[in-house]
Amino acid sequence: MSSQIDHLLDEDRRFAPDPAFTAQAVATAELYERAKADRLGFWGDEARELLTWSKPFTEVLDWSNPPFAKWFADGELNVAYNCLDRHVEAGNGDRVALLWEGEPGDSRRITYAELTDEVKRVANVLAGLGVGEGDRVAIYLPMIPEAVAAMLAVARVGAIHSVVFGGFSADSLRSRIDDAGAKLVITADGGYRKGKVSALKPAVDQALADRNGSGVQETVEHVLVVKRGGNDVEWTEGRDLWWHDVVPEAPADHVAQGFPAENPLFILYTSGTTGKPKGILHTSGGYATQTAFTHKNVFDLHPESDVYWCTADIGWITGHSYVVYGPLANGATQVLYEGTPDAPHPGRWWEIVEKYGVTVLYTAPTAIRSFMKIGRAVPHRFDLSSLRVLGSVGEPINPEAWVWYRSVIGADRTPVVDTWWQTETGAIMVSALPGITETKPGSAQVALPGISVDVVDEEGAHVGNGNGGLLVITEPWPSMLRGIWGDPERFVETYWEKFADKGGFYFAGDGARLDEDGDVWLLGRVDDVMNVSGHRLSTAEIESALVAHEATAEAAVVGASDETTGQAVVAFVIIKESYLAEHAPEGLANDLRLWVGEQIGPIARPRDVYIVGELPKTRSGKIMRRLLRDVAEGREVGDTTTLADTAVMSVISAQVK
Ligand code: WT7
Repeated sequence: MSSQIDHLLDEDRRFAPDPAFTAQAVATAELYERAKADRLGFWGDEARELLTWSKPFTEVLDWSNPPFAKWFADGELNVAYNCLDRHVEAGNGDRVALLWEGEPGDSRRITYAELTDEVKRVANVLAGLGVGEGDRVAIYLPMIPEAVAAMLAVARVGAIHSVVFGGFSADSLRSRIDDAGAKLVITADGGYRKGKVSALKPAVDQALADRNGSGVQETVEHVLVVKRGGNDVEWTEGRDLWWHDVVPEAPADHVAQGFPAENPLFILYTSGTTGKPKGILHTSGGYATQTAFTHKNVFDLHPESDVYWCTADIGWITGHSYVVYGPLANGATQVLYEGTPDAPHPGRWWEIVEKYGVTVLYTAPTAIRSFMKIGRAVPHRFDLSSLRVLGSVGEPINPEAWVWYRSVIGADRTPVVDTWWQTETGAIMVSALPGITETKPGSAQVALPGISVDVVDEEGAHVGNGNGGLLVITEPWPSMLRGIWGDPERFVETYWEKFADKGGFYFAGDGARLDEDGDVWLLGRVDDVMNVSGHRLSTAEIESALVAHEATAEAAVVGASDETTGQAVVAFVIIKESYLAEHAPEGLANDLRLWVGEQIGPIARPRDVYIVGELPKTRSGKIMRRLLRDVAEGREVGDTTTLADTAVMSVISAQVK
């Protein structure tokens, strides 16, 4: 981490806001003043201004039982109504909500009135299937309008969605269905990815079939299937329903009932430091308030004129907060794109920017770095002059990528906002405000109005400007996670115990540094969580997938820095002697890579698998991943004196070469 700090310390480029931008900016410097003067009053005002409540709240925050927060608890609202009906009622039904672009080039424009109509029908279908308040629904869909409609319909009936990224395996889907006890799965036959149809329904069939005889009670009663890929699918009569059979038939009248602000809205699984993903639980009123607030102010949203595009998949938190809830609560017009950035050609994204006149683009550093590699000629074949705000999220953005993004994509004109947050925080926490903040390439900069963060040492003491430490959030915030589904102890342990004596600091798991101005520079995870292309992966989860293979005796996984993906998964595996006695070792490393892809999903597939004879362990048997990371990154191996066997690293280095 120290070499990274030194490098960042050299970064002294600054970009002052353009006065013309400031003159029209949605955010104002006064927001900070208001929030500072009365933090809870500020959030109360924002909640009332940004949302429509069917029953007003009387108390902003109940923090009487930390870390279990309640925001706006006696208020009631319907989150889907806030994203849909009220825009129609306000006369904006003809405004386009979704400019959907399929990967093969087919497209659909869906207005707020049309989306409201569709969601009402789906809500009626859900009610007809017995899905209501508090029930869990798993959503396993490609990036199609029905994915947005499905999430909103679940929210509308007061049920809880658990969206599972379409790139996850049948096993991953099954464990998420089980953990949440989902009653319904909404999926598609398949979707387009990299020029071909990638099937989804078979994974659902496998997930549900696998459970027969496993002793686990089947909770899923129905599978609702959208036809998108046109691929052949198997059908279980009585269980499976085609969306196109039941949704158009359902009545389009559905009155959105208000639910208590603390009713769960969704569960989203994310990797932690153990092998088992955590079901992060978000509730309604506070989450909707902060996603709407941040979407409006961080992206300078002018809903009548902007065309906003967040490239994230709805399977991740960015898709939940900045494709579905934030933009739709704000009545934005947005692009929804099904496919990958480079299909069918490497300029696909920029073609979409030109076609729809995208004004605000929100994407990840890994994408920016891959475009940098291809070179500016590709984006410059298209007219990008509509762009006026650029956002980044998912991992630290290196200053070079930040500057490239601003100068090549943003014509040296657009503000760039680097937004730090997590699945757990629900919404953006640290970011510049366009038109307000003088920006610094590589720094996420300042806590948003109403948000309190700090960088502290291991004891929880403020490190002071110019120093590095751990990022903490020092006050509860509206969109904070309310727990880990079914595991309150793990919630307390993971996030709150480390600084328990500090009176409720949230430990984010990220290293950070404060510069001379007190601005925050993120330095990456300090735990066993990797960040590959902005996706969070746990070393323990991949290790357990590796040892589940018959050949593996032991495995250790590290995140090694990678020019394009930020980090890459590198695995060190010891093969069982009994296996080697009967099988040739050729091709085994690659088989193990593919195996992990099948077990978890292609995103978890290691970049490299090294077959080694031993792993570096301390005398107490703990694997020293730091040393393996040195090998994986091709560095001189660090201090080995605490190893039980100090010779082991030279053996491993030799085996890796
Ligand atoms: C982790 C959270 C937030 C949505 C996408 C990822 C890293 C995220 C930044 C940023 C530096 C960042 C952190 C964080 N991260 N954004 N702007 N600068 N690091 O959500 O999967 O929950 O991952 O992503 O390490 O803890 P997630």
